[in-house]
Amino acid sequence: MNSYPALAPIQAMITEVEARMCAQGEDCHPDLRAALEHLLSSGGKRIRPTLVLLVGRMLGAPHDKLITLGAAVEMLHTATLVHDDLIDGSLLRRGIPTLNARWSPAATVLTGDFIFARAAKLAAETENVTLMQWFAETLAVIVNGELTQMFTSRGLISRENYYKRIFSKTASLFEMCARAAAKVSPADDETVESMRRFGHKIGMAFQIVDDILDFTGDQATVGKPLGSDLLQGLVTLPALYYIETHPNDPDVHLLRDGGWGNRERMERLIESIRGSDSIQRSMQEARDYIEDALEILASCPPSPERDSLEQLSRYIIDRQV
Ligand code: IPE
Ligand code: IPE
Ligand code: MG
Ligand code: MG
Repeated sequence: MNSYPALAPIQAMITEVEARMCAQGEDCHPDLRAALEHLLSSGGKRIRPTLVLLVGRMLGAPHDKLITLGAAVEMLHTATLVHDDLIDGSLLRRGIPTLNARWSPAATVLTGDFIFARAAKLAAETENVTLMQWFAETLAVIVNGELTQMFTSRGLISRENYYKRIFSKTASLFEMCARAAAKVSPADDETVESMRRFGHKIGMAFQIVDDILDFTGDQATVGKPLGSDLLQGLVTLPALYYIETHPNDPDVHLLRDGGWGNRERMERLIESIRGSDSIQRSMQEARDYIEDALEILASCPPSPERDSLEQLSRYIIDRQV
């Protein structure tokens, strides 16, 4: 697993979360169990359960509920990745082959469904109806976002569409993690709401950085195919800045005319974006979200968990993976 400072104080709890996730494969078909073990052993940053555990501990939530909630959100995340990689035709994730690289689409879809079901079961085990509602609602937002991206976002050059998209596919889950952890704590409504806003800010920054890494990352480090967003017609923040500042670039014209299927020209455009200040401008937006997040944290009473949440926020913009 990738390690970062915020993870250290809760490493033992993350191990418990992972054991809880692995247990979800008991009593199922051996191939399904093997697929689950393959997915869970591949690691990942475990950022979402880290967020749950740190917020929950900061606010005094019961240990067992946090482990259950942490496992629920990471299972939900895992299921979305299984389906996302199938949809995108991605063959690599976390440095190892994806399920769809080895299995038929049918088996991959069903495995994703199984993981969604287990995630819902774990959410129910928190015995908190509000939290189950938030969980289901978040999944609906993510799926609606993926469908919108598929049907109406390709080739679309729109900031408004971009921010909506990154909220749906990523920030919505970060938001849910932070507010759900607060909800199972003895915290008042105002605190739950400020944690929701905190989750939202770091989630937006997280996806902007993911979109930047798609241009600038080192594929071996990131462990998934890069440079793929624009080739699929997905106009993310670095591309938006470039288009705004280079309206006369012939490759931008081509993209505007729906020519994102022209691989050679799009690869040239990716190179231009990489070499431009669009990357730094996008990074500044991610930093601004993190500044807002830190401001929200500053209103919480000081604690070791608050310090770790601060480290987590900074890691989101400093990470190379
Ligand atoms: C990948 O999430 C999907 C996005 C929302 C960008 P992560 O970057 O958290 O993936 P893992 O779990 O660490 O592999
Ligand atoms: C995926 O976003 C988000 C979800 C799984 C809902 P991306 O498509 O940007 O994620 P990566 O880059 O494949 O990890
Ligand atoms: Mg993807
Ligand atoms: Mg991406």
